[in-house]
Amino acid sequence: MKLKQKDLLGLEYLSKEEIELIIQTAKPFKNLFTRTVKKVPTLRGKTVVLLFYEPSTRTRTSFELAAKRLSADTIGISVSASSVVKGESLIDTVKTIEAMKADFVVLRHGMSGAAHIVSKTISASVINAGDGMHEHPTQGLLDIFTILEKKEKIKGLNVAIIGDILHSRVARSNIWGLNKLGANVFVVGPATLIPAEIEKLNVEVHHNIEKIMHKLDVINILRIQRERQEQNLFPTFEEYSEIFGINSYKLRNAKNDIVIMHPGPMNRGAEISSEVAESKNSVITEQVTNGIAIRMSVLYLLAGGDGGESETFNS
Ligand code: CP
Repeated sequence: MKLKQKDLLGLEYLSKEEIELIIQTAKPFKNLFTRTVKKVPTLRGKTVVLLFYEPSTRTRTSFELAAKRLSADTIGISVSASSVVKGESLIDTVKTIEAMKADFVVLRHGMSGAAHIVSKTISASVINAGDGMHEHPTQGLLDIFTILEKKEKIKGLNVAIIGDILHSRVARSNIWGLNKLGANVFVVGPATLIPAEIEKLNVEVHHNIEKIMHKLDVINILRIQRERQEQNLFPTFEEYSEIFGINSYKLRNAKNDIVIMHPGPMNRGAEISSEVAESKNSVITEQVTNGIAIRMSVLYLLAGGDGGESETFNS
């Protein structure tokens, strides 16, 4: 099976089968990581441009490693040292990149919808590496891949996403992807950080994590963004941490095999305690490793590669 689309803009726009294809195709790429030579020649001659208008550690490094492990050439554009500071628009910047014959543009931008606009402007494949409050599709895919490694299925799992749902592109991608694969998705946070009518995305809204902790199979903890306190969306870091921060006490009634996730970067002691982040249930470092395999899979499939046989995700 192949992906039909040129771009990866969000999990909202992928079918269940396409999500399964990307995850299935990531598995053999992950197996490469234990080999001495972690590189394959699949994308030799292709060029991947990493265009990040916002800071990133994980996503940018992970895409660069993924592209290099597929033998593609990579160029990272540092926006602060580019003609963007002279006032060049996003459209002109990507047209310039296209004129240099890039095959992929991996874009992170603060504006929701930026990747959509770029995808309509250039013929290169556009991969959304996070657009404003909209989507972060490869994060959603790597999160699902990591859950599958631990739980061997998605259908019927109870997955809670806790924190700043309102501003979170990670939450939106997880909600779209997990719902398509049949999970029960709960969103938890202060009312000020839960978008109005989020129930329409087929999620249950809660404001008290302890009430639902006993039935959760997975908890995905979002970063609390310091700038939100200035907007009076929650009173203080301390109060947020007291009510919504995940520590060992809040997990006292959790299942023994609950999977603890965090997309990073973490604010230890705010949304997650160090003890929980380092616990046996935490898969936070595995998420980072799996991110490379998922991004290799996405690059390979968007380049026209044929994915592996699909296994059942429901058993
Ligand atoms: N999870 C994530 O997107 O992290 P970065 O901002 O470091 O890329």
